[in-house]
Amino acid sequence: MQYKKKNFYVENISTEKLARKFNTPLYCYSYLKLKNNIINFKNHFKKINPLICFSVKSNSNIKILREIKNLDCGADVVSMGEMMKVLKAGINTKKIVFSGVGKTYSELEYAINKNILLINVESRSELLVVEKIGKLKKKKIDIGIRLNPNINAKTLQQISTGKKENKFGVTEKEFLKLVKHAKLSKSLKLKCLSVHIGSQIFSHKPYEKMLKVIDKLIKQTNHKFEFVDLGGGMGISYEKNNKKLNLKIYNSLINKFLKKNSCKIIFEPGRSIIADTGILISKIIYIKKNKNKNFVILDAAMNDLMRPALYGAKHQIIPSKKNKKITNKIFEFVGPICESTDKFLTTKKFQNIREGELIIICDVGAYGMSLSSNYNLRTLPAEILVKNSKIQVIKSRQKLSDII
Ligand code: LLP
Repeated sequence: MQYKKKNFYVENISTEKLARKFNTPLYCYSYLKLKNNIINFKNHFKKINPLICFSVKSNSNIKILREIKNLDCGADVVSMGEMMKVLKAGINTKKIVFSGVGKTYSELEYAINKNILLINVESRSELLVVEKIGKLKKKKIDIGIRLNPNINAKTLQQISTGKKENKFGVTEKEFLKLVKHAKLSKSLKLKCLSVHIGSQIFSHKPYEKMLKVIDKLIKQTNHKFEFVDLGGGMGISYEKNNKKLNLKIYNSLINKFLKKNSCKIIFEPGRSIIADTGILISKIIYIKKNKNKNFVILDAAMNDLMRPALYGAKHQIIPSKKNKKITNKIFEFVGPICESTDKFLTTKKFQNIREGELIIICDVGAYGMSLSSNYNLRTLPAEILVKNSKIQVIKSRQKLSDII
């Protein structure tokens, strides 16, 4: 995705053309970028040869999931809906892991009936429910236990998951007790230790600490874990400041760990695979000047892209068509929703823009469409995928009649 002369292109199709054809706001993904991301990810961890279970919560479009399946990935799911969707997308059941603190009886039963690779339990109560279902079905269920390693992932508080005050996983002490229970159970087969300490992580240090904790704990259990599921969380540089996780170091830390513990590594990446494959094209409805800034009111809003309002996330905004008239006016890009947090970005350096023109919000492939809603009774945007010079509508624009 790049400029060719003045116009921004997704592969070989200009965003101007896409907007004319499909209207705005419009989510648009590049297949080539997705493919390259997965290839790069695999190359970084070649020696480890992990099972990559794409974290479906980051993007659950079925056409995207099919492409991901064809690029040889599995799925990390957190609900019955996600599980049904990845099965519909054709992902092999032996490449599906099920995470989440509140899996219901019927969700667990469904997963057990489908014989998925692992149910990563997150509490004693959940483990007992899985055991009960196993007993009723006279089956031995493959499980993992999610550890809360009490590690500060040094990321946003809202997306940190591995500290003891977070609801996820079990403490080391409880982990050891549950391992003992599972080993004695006729209905459970303990195959995995799983962790996920948070999202948008830049430093390898929390991962280093996490691996140390896991290593120590595995020794204490004296159990042979077939899998260690390290979750996702690899950060990307939204602000284009080159801040991103050094995968080379992470890879060498894992290799060191594997020398002491022979097991298959599972990763559950979401953002690092899909975030920069997607853009959101939006039209400027109005520009409203007040004393010291210009509100650029877009036809995209927080219901289409929630991250800025929810986490103060900063997604770059760029023009769809470049001109040379850079101004030092202050522009605040906002949506039409009746909330003051419905704003995307404030910038002091942008080109001169006019009502009716198009802008692009970058890196929205992860937690963009999947976090969207009908707030203010606004319809969900369309999604398109550009693949080999062809445009596919992978989700049609929702109609007002669908929601009224
Ligand atoms: N595995 C588990 C168990 C998770 O909870 C998550 C994300 C992932 C994997 C994938 O993490 P990733 O590789 O994408 O960082 N909505 C927030 C992010 C929430 C992440 C929730 N869990 C955002 O837009 O930043």
